[in-house]
Amino acid sequence: MAPPEGEKIQIGLLGYGTVGSQVYSLLEGQAREIAQASGARVSIKRILVRDLDVPREGAPEDTFTDDFKDIIEDDDISIVVELIGGTEPAFDYITEALERGKAVVTANKQLISQQGFYLFQLSQEKKTQIRFEASVAGAIPVIKVLRESMVAAEITSIYGIVNGTTNYILTEMSRTGTKYDDALACAQEWGYAEADPTEDVSGKDAAAKMAILASIAFHSNVRLDDVDCAGIEDINPLDAEYAGELGLTLKLLGVAKLYDDSINVRVYPALLSQDHPLASVGGAYNAVFLQGRSIDEIMLSGPGAGGMETASAVVSDIVSIVSRRTPGFLEYPIAYKELDFFPDENVVSTFYLRLEVEDKPGVLAAIANEFGKHEVSIEQVIQKGRGVHAELVMVFHAVAEKSFMAALEKVSALEGVKAEPRPIRVEGGDEQ
Ligand code: NAP
Ligand code: HSE
Repeated sequence: MAPPEGEKIQIGLLGYGTVGSQVYSLLEGQAREIAQASGARVSIKRILVRDLDVPREGAPEDTFTDDFKDIIEDDDISIVVELIGGTEPAFDYITEALERGKAVVTANKQLISQQGFYLFQLSQEKKTQIRFEASVAGAIPVIKVLRESMVAAEITSIYGIVNGTTNYILTEMSRTGTKYDDALACAQEWGYAEADPTEDVSGKDAAAKMAILASIAFHSNVRLDDVDCAGIEDINPLDAEYAGELGLTLKLLGVAKLYDDSINVRVYPALLSQDHPLASVGGAYNAVFLQGRSIDEIMLSGPGAGGMETASAVVSDIVSIVSRRTPGFLEYPIAYKELDFFPDENVVSTFYLRLEVEDKPGVLAAIANEFGKHEVSIEQVIQKGRGVHAELVMVFHAVAEKSFMAALEKVSALEGVKAEPRPIRVEGGDEQ
């Protein structure tokens, strides 16, 4: 069937990198399907780049410009797709587009997690739309599902593997013993990593995505700064090895929970029992595991990074805009409540701990005694001799984090304890 002779919709694309170039090629290659789905002929009119002298494949040369004015002042361009990343000048460009009533699509989680609230209000005021499906979990349509399909789900917790780069690194390290730096270099080569990969490995990229997911799920404004995060830079390969022995898998996890009228959102490396639904999510795949009063549990998983995969989410936002030209509830601000933040120290968690200790009588007893004094109960212990030192690996029963951290401070100061102990949270343990 021939595509409908619908309205002609022209797009201004900002950025022609890993994702931008694939958006161009998807819009070209899938033009027929997009016309059928949206009832319009959608095409890219201009593309903003920094340097016009760099040779580029795909779009015709005269499509490129290095002047934002060529896009913003063009009244034929009704949708601006921002794929340059970073907060500046992306914020100014998006603001100006919304001010002029143009619709906006972005994959920029850093910007949405910091300035989203302002931008949503602006788009509502200007009676236009800003969509950001690709900002979380690449190709997985998690934002649309949370906002539309789960509107009555009463979400209580979200567990997310939301960074493809770190999931790829951890998977490669544990499956094939690849070194951290080599795995990171591969993730960069595949186009998974951010322009500055510290955003990925420090947990900041995942924190931005969890802030967005939590804002949508709990209808309360969670900004990047509200999300405490730890990354994988300090992960010792020994921990991945011991985890395997204990039947656990190491992941960089985002956790967002609702506690009555407060919320807690964090990102940290965590151990998951191997039968946890998230444990088998490997490589650059992402997954979001949702729990809600009326849905029990739902998991969405799929490619979380990569040019073409992310471009598919960007194109789906373009189609949604084109096929819904009038603003509705989806264009209203995502956060209309003001929930408090639940203190980290009151969260009940299960921990794994690897201690380097002197291999002599009384050391294990002294450690167990300190934990006992703080009512921290040990579930499993492995001890291995390594010359004059021994490695003591422990998994604990669920306990309030403040009790565990207080006990750990005392244990770290014991005479027989050598290197600084690094606890890792175990998710899916008996705290639930
Ligand atoms: P990228 O490969 O680094 O591409 C960015 C593009 O934007 C480059 O063409 C760059 O030009 C251009 N650019 C940067 N600053 C500019 C400026 N001030 N003016 C004009 N052009 C500018 O980045 P990407 O991987 O495509 O990521 C784009 C966005 O998608 C980011 O927000 C990222 O977080 C998000 N995202 C990426 C993925 C992924 O897997 N890659 C997945 C989900 C979301 P130069 O080439 O001249 O530097
Ligand atoms: N750098 C990001 C990741 C891209 O590795 O998940 C997807 O947002």
